[in-house]
Amino acid sequence: MVAARITVNGKETPISPAPAHTTVLDFLRERGLTGTKEGCAEGECGACSVLVARPGVDRPTDWVAVNACLVPVAALDGQEVVTSEGLATADASGTPAVLHPVQEEMAVRGGSQCGFCTPGFICSMASEYYRPDRCAHADRADRSGSGPADGSGSEHGPNGFDLHALSGNLCRCTGYRPIRDAAYAVGMPAEDDPLAQRREQSPPEPAATAYAQDDSAFLRPCTLADAVRLLRERPEAVVVAGSTDWGVEVNIRSRRANCVVAVDRLPELRALHVGSDHIEIGAAQTLTEIERRLDGAVPLLAELFPQFASRLIRNSATLGGNLGTGSPIGDSPPVLLALEASLVLADADGEREVPLCDYFTGYRQSVRRPGELIRAVRVPLPLSPVTAFHKIAKRRFDDISSVAVAFALDIEDGTVRKARIGLGGVAATPIRALATEAALEGEPWTERTAEAAARVLRAEGTPMDDHRASAGYRTAMLGQSLLKLYARTTEAVPS
Ligand code: FES
Ligand code: FES
Repeated sequence: MVAARITVNGKETPISPAPAHTTVLDFLRERGLTGTKEGCAEGECGACSVLVARPGVDRPTDWVAVNACLVPVAALDGQEVVTSEGLATADASGTPAVLHPVQEEMAVRGGSQCGFCTPGFICSMASEYYRPDRCAHADRADRSGSGPADGSGSEHGPNGFDLHALSGNLCRCTGYRPIRDAAYAVGMPAEDDPLAQRREQSPPEPAATAYAQDDSAFLRPCTLADAVRLLRERPEAVVVAGSTDWGVEVNIRSRRANCVVAVDRLPELRALHVGSDHIEIGAAQTLTEIERRLDGAVPLLAELFPQFASRLIRNSATLGGNLGTGSPIGDSPPVLLALEASLVLADADGEREVPLCDYFTGYRQSVRRPGELIRAVRVPLPLSPVTAFHKIAKRRFDDISSVAVAFALDIEDGTVRKARIGLGGVAATPIRALATEAALEGEPWTERTAEAAARVLRAEGTPMDDHRASAGYRTAMLGQSLLKLYARTTEAVPS
C-alpha cells in the first residue's frame, strides 16, 4: 500500500508521522502554512478554510472550500489541497509574485484589517470564484442584502457570486461591506488560470487508506462490502463522512477514537437517483452536492439547505451524518420526517429499509445496529405541494436551532387532505407532530382550523429550558409556526 500523502499547493507531502487524529489545520500549520488560522476549532468562524479538489457537479472537478479544523488529514490521503498561500502566482523562485484575483479585490477594496480572518475568506471566495455555474446565476443579482421574497435568502451579486459562500466566515474588525464589495467585484477566471484548468481533469481517486500511528488508526475502505465487513470486525470504530462532528469531538472535547472509518467516498453511498415513486439520496452526498443536483426538485429540502449551518459545513456535511448522530436538534430530521422519508440501512448481512419516524428511539439513540451504516435516504413521490421549514435560532445563518418545524400538506379544494409535520428541539428525539396532523386532516384550511391546530401543536413534545431557549418560548414558537404557514399560504396577514 502506498504511504499516506497529501498534495498541498502542488507539493506532495507525507502524512506520517502525524497522529491519526491530526486535523488538516494542525498539519498545515506545523508545516509552516500558517495562513490557515485557528479561530474557533469547531467549524464556526471559517478562519481555517482551505480548498480541496472534489468530484464536480457540472465538471470533473470542483474546488470546494472546507473547514480544515474539522477534517482529519488522513481523510485527504491522495487528495489535493490549496491554501491561501497557494493561490497567488509564484515567480521562478517560488515566491508568490502576483495576487490571485480574489486576493487582489480584497486588498484594493479594503476587505482586510487585522487580517486574521482574511485567508479563510479568500479560500471561501476562491471556491465560489471557480464555481462553474456562477455565470448562469448572474441574473439572480440582488444587492439589497435582504434577499428575494421567495424566502430562500438567496443573495447573488451582479457577477453571480453567491454571498452564502461566505456564510461560514466571520470577521471581527473589517465589517462585511468591503468584503461583499470584493466578492461582487471579482470577474471570471482567465482561460489560462491553472485552477480553472484543473477543473477539467478528474479529481484524485479516493485512496484505500490504512493509516495507523501510535495506537490509533484511520481507515478508508473502498467498497460498501469492505466497509461493513470492517465495521463487523471493529464495532467500536467511529464512522465519519464529512467529519464535522468528529472535528468538534477532537478539538473541543479532546476525544480520540482508536479507530476511525471513513465512508464518504464509498460509491454505494454517493448516488442520487430520481425514480417514478421515490428519490434516493446517497447518505454520503454532501449537502452542497444534493442542493445542486436536486436544484429545487424537492422544495422543502431547498428551503432547508440555506438554513443548515454554513456553506463551509454543507460542503462536507452529509444527510447520513446528520441522521447518524441522532441529535434532537439536527436540521434535516424534521424536514425528512415531514417528507415521510425512510432510511436504507446496510450491514454485512444485507439491507433493510426503516421509516424515519421509527428510526429514533431515544436521546441520540436509534434502531441502527452496531456495524450498520446508513446507505441512503428515500423520499417518496409525489411530494406534498404545500411545504415550509421554519428554523427558529438566534442567528439567521450558521446557528443551531432552538426549534425547527417542517410542514408538508396536501390541500385540495380548500381542505387539508394530508398533513405531515416534523419537529426538532422539543423532545429527546426529532418527532412527528401526530396530534396536530390529526387535528388538520379533513378540516377546511381556514384561520379557525389553523388556530385550533396551533393550540394542539403547542402541546406537542416535551420542550425544556436550556441556554438556547426556554421551554415556554419553544412552545410559543411551535404554535406561531403553524400560524405563519397559514398566513403565508393564504396571505391573510402580512408575513
Ligand atoms: Fe473556526 Fe475552523 S477554526 S471554523
Ligand atoms: Fe480582522 Fe477580519 S480583518 S478579523
